[in-house]
Amino acid sequence: MTDLAPSDDLAALRQEIAAQLAASADLRAWDAVRVGVLGKSGRLTALLKGLGAVAPEARRERGAALNRLKAELEAAIESRRLALEAATLEARLAAERLDVTLPPRPHPPAGAEQGGIHPISRTMEELVAIFGAMGLRVAEGPDIEGDWYNFGALNIPEHHPARQDHDTFYLPADPDGRRPVLRTHTSPVQIRTMIAEPPPIRVIVPGRTYRADHDATHSPMFHQVEGLVIDRGITLGHLKGCLIDFLRAFFCISDLPVRFRASYFPFTEPSMEVDIGWNRRTGELGKGGDWLEILGSGMVHPRVLANCGIDPREWQGFAFGMGIERITMLKHGMPDLRPFYESDLRWLRHYAADPLSPPSLAEGV
Ligand code: PHE
Repeated sequence: MTDLAPSDDLAALRQEIAAQLAASADLRAWDAVRVGVLGKSGRLTALLKGLGAVAPEARRERGAALNRLKAELEAAIESRRLALEAATLEARLAAERLDVTLPPRPHPPAGAEQGGIHPISRTMEELVAIFGAMGLRVAEGPDIEGDWYNFGALNIPEHHPARQDHDTFYLPADPDGRRPVLRTHTSPVQIRTMIAEPPPIRVIVPGRTYRADHDATHSPMFHQVEGLVIDRGITLGHLKGCLIDFLRAFFCISDLPVRFRASYFPFTEPSMEVDIGWNRRTGELGKGGDWLEILGSGMVHPRVLANCGIDPREWQGFAFGMGIERITMLKHGMPDLRPFYESDLRWLRHYAADPLSPPSLAEGV
């Protein structure tokens, strides 16, 4: 039976535990210290269990000393836990801190390849941004068209010379003798939209088109965007306002000269070719006194409206169409059309747009 001096061993234990707690660098080490003292087979637990073996006359004092030490150690252990938790949180906050002064668009890590947006796709995004702000939405249609959608409904009758203009790709005839075509323009989507939904209609149609033609400025597959606005009381004034605003926004030239010149399309009456001012010699847009044809437009022909079941005495509208490659080449000063489709990485890297900076009207497209 032992009768230890009440405080000697306890003072040593207190010191030892204080040192262990101070050395515990994380919550896991801290927990090992806690269990080593207060756990089922912890040091202090063992001392408390041994109380029964202490001589009765010393037991009361020893018990009181052990209980004081226990309270002391519990407090020290708890305060170490709080300190460690606070340090962990500090470390996390420091590691996850957001630097609000960093540029808003992340750059790829050094050595990583960054993808880019093809200039055709970029122009389409810009068209959607500009016309979208005017309230036009995107409509789509098939690349393989029926003859009636591509020509007939658009007031281009069989054997009409306009059909030859388009250098059409024909597919093999079906059993009824009808030959599907690769659409030669996006105008058949005007027809599909007017048949599918009642006016008012406000759409643009960006998409692929096909003509048997191939040189520095023509490709057998190219892209057009069509525009169609049908409502009551639509006039030539609306057409002009819409296209002047569009051209100035697209080319980012707020005083870009725009000229409307009488022309002919079977599906519009009157029809107008639209030119922008430029310098023929330097290629600079916006000044120079020369004119460059950029798109076709006109008031939708009453017969086209009637072909789609729309009463031309009640509804009027305008339409326009332009080549996406052409306006892209002009905007970026590209001399040749062919690289659009050649997948040459040097060309793509040069002309690609940043995928993290979609066009916005606020910044100017
Ligand atoms: N579809 C015509 C073309 O491909 C362009 C156009 C569209 C003209 C709409 C007027 C109105 O040449």
